Amino acid sequence: MASTSTDTTGLRDITKMERIGAHSHIHGLGLDDNLEARETGQGMVGQLKARRAAGVMLKMIQDGNKNAGRAILMAGAPGTGKTAIAMGMAQSLGADVPFTMLAASEIFSLEMSKTEALTQAFRRSIGVRIKEESEIIEGEVVEIQIDRSTTGLGQKSGKLTLKTTEMETMYDLGAKMIDALNKEKVMAGDVITIDKASGRISKLGRSFTRARDYDAMGSDTKFVQCPDGELQKRKEVVHTVSLHEMDVINSRSQGFLALFSGDTGEIKTEVREQINQKVGEWREEGKAEIVPGVLFIDEVHVLDIECFSFLNRALEDPLAPVVIMASNRGISKIRGTNYKSPHGLPVDLLDRLLIISTTAYTEPEIKQILTIRCEEEDVQMTEDAKDILTRIGMETSLRYAIHLITASSFVAKKRKAAAVDVADIKRVYSLFLDEKRSVQMLKEYQGQYMYNEIDMADREPAIGNSMQMSV
Ligand SMILES: Nc1ncnc2c1ncn2[C@@H]1O[C@H](COP(=O)(O)OP(=O)(O)O)[C@@H](O)[C@H]1O
Ligand SMILES: [Mg+2]
Repeated sequence: MASTSTDTTGLRDITKMERIGAHSHIHGLGLDDNLEARETGQGMVGQLKARRAAGVMLKMIQDGNKNAGRAILMAGAPGTGKTAIAMGMAQSLGADVPFTMLAASEIFSLEMSKTEALTQAFRRSIGVRIKEESEIIEGEVVEIQIDRSTTGLGQKSGKLTLKTTEMETMYDLGAKMIDALNKEKVMAGDVITIDKASGRISKLGRSFTRARDYDAMGSDTKFVQCPDGELQKRKEVVHTVSLHEMDVINSRSQGFLALFSGDTGEIKTEVREQINQKVGEWREEGKAEIVPGVLFIDEVHVLDIECFSFLNRALEDPLAPVVIMASNRGISKIRGTNYKSPHGLPVDLLDRLLIISTTAYTEPEIKQILTIRCEEEDVQMTEDAKDILTRIGMETSLRYAIHLITASSFVAKKRKAAAVDVADIKRVYSLFLDEKRSVQMLKEYQGQYMYNEIDMADREPAIGNSMQMSV
């Protein structure tokens, strides 16, 4: 699954690249503190209701999202910003909240079963934040004093004086600590840490203030600053991994190298059960917490009935991420059945979803989006050209108009103009057909194409059906 990205940092990496993607102008949802959508913000324009709804979802996720298995469907015509909004959400998630993007068609193109692919996508979207906290004492040794009883019998005892730049404290030493100090050959002037739980002592180096003892120390001695602040410190290490990463690392047949090659294959159910159990134990001990992320399934209507029933079940799992789906279908056939259903999804699945609908853009909004795209692609365009392009966007599609930006900038460059003008737009408009004109042309010349099925009966083919089109 080369195109799935597990986290937002990955997405940021992609936007850093020189290439400009379809959504590279999107940097967030463009909401204010009250989750109201700004007319324009972070590359987003209009579609206020849907953006606000997405913002509410986002807030829920960020606040810890106690409710597993929330799912939303973004429904709307092509080019109304469904994918763009999902990208905006991804960019606003916290750095360690997993975001997985899956084009529904990927499910069918992997060397594993559909349900396995979906399970992996689900588990990629759940993070486990593992906390390791330890209390340590860190300071420079001022003095070690060990009392030996005159008889040589009984417990050894002693005192250790440690200091930071701000304080100095004396600690009582037990026999175990004395042994540990001896073993590490700790002496006055060393900077050491003591792990309070395990009693482990580690030497960080010699304090700079003792640098003049250098001769006696040997040349491999490391010198460090005397620590500042309190002697007792808490050290916390936090790292987040996804359940899927844990699965892969722990499945013996794969090993962690599979994470890099992406060639993970199918993972045994037992492995997953073990991981779930382990994570459960860690949660109880307070060592780990679950970070529910987001799974975005684009073009979800491409999934079939088996996948949909898998989704029904998977959404009920206590370890389910927030699932966002996007569909551009109206009432259409559910793949794998002969039944028609809204958005191409079965009604029992629809029943579990909150639906956000996206609507067509107004003319000023289209103009604004095109302006943002011009900036993103570094294309200068005159106002008149923008107006024409906006009209084209209204009459054909937003995507088509966006595509013309690049093409027209090439034409303008060719005539060595600084900015794209009306003539350049007209030129590319005549060179590249949009969908409507293409259909128009097909209707006129359909006889010359292969396998055409429209209106065969009432038209006399011009040349012959089997004739291959020549370009
Ligand atoms: N509200 C918006 N603000 C800025 N750009 C948008 C907006 N809506 C769509 N776009 C851009 O228009 C193009 C088509 O939108 P897209 O999100 O791919 O549509 P959909 O997924 O609904 O078919 C993309 O390049 C997208 O980034
Ligand atoms: Mg899309």
